Amino acid sequence: MQRVQGFRPQEIKRDEVRAITTYIASFSSKARIQVVPKHPQELAMYNLGRELWYTRAGPRDMSCAVCHDQYAGQRVRLSPVRSPKQGLGNEWPAYRFEEDRLYTFEDRIDFCYESIGIPKPEFYSDVHIALATYILAEATKAGHSFEELPFFTR
Ligand code: HEC
Repeated sequence: MQRVQGFRPQEIKRDEVRAITTYIASFSSKARIQVVPKHPQELAMYNLGRELWYTRAGPRDMSCAVCHDQYAGQRVRLSPVRSPKQGLGNEWPAYRFEEDRLYTFEDRIDFCYESIGIPKPEFYSDVHIALATYILAEATKAGHSFEELPFFTR
């Protein structure tokens, strides 16, 4: 948006980004996930994403893997938890009725970061790109497809 369309950062409205993300994602409804890093920069993002996934941090010394891999297929409190190999990430953007608004994948990742006391990363940062690349590449290997997008979830 900044480089090609000439927007200044302060002019970018998050709600408009959510809207265009949802519009574009709707064309991938039910499609096979096909994130296969090949270019060196894609591989670098995949490797960074894997590192972020497993690195324990924050006041509770938690990592994504502690919940999503260790408890994969089980529940944390009432919520079912999935691993990337079980298709984690295949339902975003989604309308979360608990929060009464639309979430992108990045919004959802931030929700987990905040729930374990780690400040959420900047939008469009390497952290978001790397985690999305890692999670969706693992879902690709396991042969998952996207849900109907936008999805509707808790
Ligand atoms: C304390 C345990 C915990 C940790 C740590 C955690 N999550 Fe979650 N995560 C959950 C729970 C519980 C849900 C809700 C599952 C549901 O309601 O479907 C969830 C949901 C998600 C979802 C959406 C669910 C889906 O199926 O698409 C994504 C994406 C996600 N987490 C990513 C992450 C990432 C990335 C990290 C690391 C930065 C992380 N989570 C760390 C517990 C955790």
